[in-house]
Amino acid sequence: MGHEYNHIKLNTENTLWTLTINRPKALNALNGEVLDEMGQFLRQISEMEFEHCRGLIITGEGPKAFVAGADIKELNSLDEAGARVFAQKGQRVFQELNLLKVPVIAAVNGFALGGGCELALACDFIYATSSAKFGLPETSLGLIPGFGGTVRMARAIGIRATRELVFSGEMISAEEGMRLGLVRRVFETSEEMMVEAKKKMEMIFTRGPLAVASAKNTVNRVYDMDIDEALKYEASSFSKLFQSDDVREGTQAFIESRKPVFKGN
Ligand code: CAA
Repeated sequence: MGHEYNHIKLNTENTLWTLTINRPKALNALNGEVLDEMGQFLRQISEMEFEHCRGLIITGEGPKAFVAGADIKELNSLDEAGARVFAQKGQRVFQELNLLKVPVIAAVNGFALGGGCELALACDFIYATSSAKFGLPETSLGLIPGFGGTVRMARAIGIRATRELVFSGEMISAEEGMRLGLVRRVFETSEEMMVEAKKKMEMIFTRGPLAVASAKNTVNRVYDMDIDEALKYEASSFSKLFQSDDVREGTQAFIESRKPVFKGN
């Protein structure tokens, strides 16, 4: 990769990447260094062609935590200006994740609290083990979420459930997360979860890469627009794909009752 990372582990199987947050002794808490490393890695894969990267799974090292939040020891020493810089750094990295052209699955294998829950929210969808716990416990520290939690949680589960979660700081189970629409699927073990996350990615990889990238971009972008602007954006994304060979191949393959061979151009 040309980069040495201390707090994240990377693995690649063909075009599927897995990023593991690797500070298990601190329950994978996000300090400035972890965020910097994640940012560097995301910039690297954002420049890759589809032949090198079609998808990313994010998980946490060890049996206990996905990510137990921003590093509270680091927060403890911040003044107002430092806190703004820290929040902006986390928000920037998570926004880069959100805007990555390939799909990203959060595989949540334990605590996903505070910044960890916000990291999962910045991914495209969330798989979880039955023992996973989600929450935005910042008010118990005298804080509020600062890596996009107030913004993305309301978009994920609605503003009323978000108020209850954020004001109380209480944790919820993966099952409850599923009822709220935060979690897509729950698995007994993290091994099973990883197998199913990979299977889902492999399935998505059979689709047109440009189409998946456009679908991700369009779904994410139109969400915050008014309906006229949103529909215009959709029509524009839809029509742009007609410049690609993949549209010809996909439609022609259907007509000829065969499987399409997409080239990502
Ligand atoms: N930051 C720094 N260290 C953390 C941490 C965090 N967010 N969460 C856990 N750790 C460390 C603990 O300090 C402990 O380290 P030591 O062994 O050196 O003492 C180690 O990880 C193991 O943790 P516990 O002993 O606490 O494990 P537990 O099983 O008793 O409890 C837990 C697990 C309920 C997740 C508990 O660790 C906890 O409540 N963690 C903090 C969760 C939290 O408040 N997160 C929000 C952070 S603020 C934030 O994220 C702001 C934002 O939006 C940007």
